[in-house]
Amino acid sequence: MSLIVAVDGPASSGKGTITKLVGEKLGLINIDTGAMFRCVTLNMLQENVTMNEEEKIEEILKNIKIEMNEEGKIFLNGSEVTKRIRENDVNDFVSPVSTIPIVRSKLVELQRKVAQGKNVIMEGRDIGTVVFPNADLKIYLDASPEERARRRVAQNKEKGIESSYNEVLEKIIDRDKRDSSRELAPLKKAEDAIYIDTSNMTIAQVVEKIERLIKEKEGEI
Ligand code: DC
Repeated sequence: MSLIVAVDGPASSGKGTITKLVGEKLGLINIDTGAMFRCVTLNMLQENVTMNEEEKIEEILKNIKIEMNEEGKIFLNGSEVTKRIRENDVNDFVSPVSTIPIVRSKLVELQRKVAQGKNVIMEGRDIGTVVFPNADLKIYLDASPEERARRRVAQNKEKGIESSYNEVLEKIIDRDKRDSSRELAPLKKAEDAIYIDTSNMTIAQVVEKIERLIKEKEGEI
């Protein structure tokens, strides 16, 4: 039997940190689908492929190998890219790349395949709406743009990167707009998803809440 927990929400809503912790605690495989879009984006940058070159994008998608190990390290075509896919050139290009229909359909196929027969917690933008509309549990994590910008600035600081709050906030608002207004698989809460606003919650509180919801579900199925 497999259990699928879908976690969607906007950039910097804490999905990454929280799904990793919940996955570790409950023994669920954590799949970061944003990292998959980032890998396709990096591969396009490496090959100098632009948005309109459909044939070249198809070629990339035909050959791409994306792997995630148990420590959360990400490999693109055999090379580790865990940090590389978080750099600025990828950040700036990933949102448009994620609107390309053939990229989305290929990644949805991979996402379904990787979860087959396993217990997973998968995070993204369209997991509860498109990838697994029948997921056992759907969570929509949110936080105000201001709180998300504060978190992002603090995260950057920890990594030794100085960033301006106003610039980060502007980028977050811009990315939200693009992710939720795109035609294909826009970011939106599935009707049956549980909405959690984490603006005034600690990481531990959110983890505990989701853990409780999963245990309740496990009791039901
Ligand atoms: O979660 P993230 O910031 O790593 O996601 C990177 C980009 O990929 C973001 O602009 C939205 C897009 N994305 C998507 O369209 N669908 C997903 N399931 C996951 C991410």
